[in-house]
Amino acid sequence: VKEIGVKLNNSLYNVYIGTDLYSRIPYYLKGNMFTRLAVVMTNPVVQAFYSKSIEKALMDAGFNPEFLVLPDGEAQKSLPSASKVYRILSNLGAERRTPIFALGGGVMGDLAGFVAATYMRGIPLIHLPTTLLAQVDSSIGGKTAVDLGKLKNQIGVFYQPSLVVSDIGSLRSLPRNEMSNGLAEVIKYAMIQDRQFFKYLETNVKKIMAKDETTLEEMIFKCVEIKANIIQQDVNDTGIRNILNFGHTAGHAIESASDFSVSHGQAVALGMIVACKISLSMGRFNKGDLQRLMEILKRYDLFKGMPAISQKKFAAAIRRDKKIVNGKMRFVLPEAIGKVFVSDDIDVSEVNRLVGDWND
Ligand SMILES: NC(=O)c1ccc[n+]([C@@H]2O[C@H](COP(=O)([O-])OP(=O)(O)OC[C@H]3O[C@@H](n4cnc5c(N)ncnc54)[C@H](O)[C@@H]3O)[C@@H](O)[C@H]2O)c1
Ligand SMILES: [Zn+2]
Repeated sequence: VKEIGVKLNNSLYNVYIGTDLYSRIPYYLKGNMFTRLAVVMTNPVVQAFYSKSIEKALMDAGFNPEFLVLPDGEAQKSLPSASKVYRILSNLGAERRTPIFALGGGVMGDLAGFVAATYMRGIPLIHLPTTLLAQVDSSIGGKTAVDLGKLKNQIGVFYQPSLVVSDIGSLRSLPRNEMSNGLAEVIKYAMIQDRQFFKYLETNVKKIMAKDETTLEEMIFKCVEIKANIIQQDVNDTGIRNILNFGHTAGHAIESASDFSVSHGQAVALGMIVACKISLSMGRFNKGDLQRLMEILKRYDLFKGMPAISQKKFAAAIRRDKKIVNGKMRFVLPEAIGKVFVSDDIDVSEVNRLVGDWND
């Protein structure tokens, strides 16, 4: 088991990463004042795998657990679905000290986090992330949100959990395409901050793809450490936290230009390559490191060339998404593997040209 404390302003909470951790929840929660009622928010897929062990752990901790099972999918990250949950909480008699356990991926984490942040102006939140993406990314940092129609994460608030328990065993049932969504973020962390960790990811492809638990534990710990370190310097997302967007500027536009047929992970992988190419064309990056990035993305199943996306849609998506001033936009660019910088001075036309000429 690995443990890491995340300290933000005046809150401090622990993140535990390891195998078969759910039985330890009673111990992790010792000393907290909660109601007997505890609410577990999850979806039917995750419920089928893990609700038994959670139920047992919560009963061992003295709780009377109620499971609130919502349909699977991003559509649940909405105000109507939050309203539905508020009403259920109210009917169950949830109070200020009733904890909500978010059992699932980033969708459940964001929705449960938003509900926990707003119900009675805030009730305790415990993240039990079950996707790699949620373990390395969405459960860390306190961003909670719901979507407003097609506008992602439009309504939200910063709200920190009391505890995060990342059980690596839960990744056993996670489909390969969902693993690779998380792995794109993992490679992103190495690119922005840690060349040695990049090397580690190169060396351990087989073990990681085979879900070797010791290796995953080390890998996830490293990612949480990197993200926690960045957000601790920028709790409200106004400065250095920007670098976490590496690969996401072009990535989001590719996702949207493909009508979401390209997965988030693959889009971020392509977005990282676009950023490298921009930096290379400015003479601020080197071909050798770009080669290494493309190679590692291939080995993790995240890159098979540029998909056939409409250039028009790409250009429109970039225009829609980002603040563009005098034809210039902000980009997080690599200087080398393990080091990035932020530029506000990137020509939109250059970005469009690079993506258009991709296959040349
Ligand atoms: N708050 C943040 O800082 C932050 C950061 C990144 C992403 N996000 C959000 O996270 C969401 C994406 O999260 P995600 O990639 O985890 O998607 P997700 O929550 O939709 O989970 C992906 C799929 O895996 C299934 N699943 C979950 N755990 C499983 C398990 N252990 N075994 C088998 N199947 C399992 C889910 O039911 C779902 O079908 C997006 O809404 C995104 O906006 C938030
Ligand atoms: Zn992402």
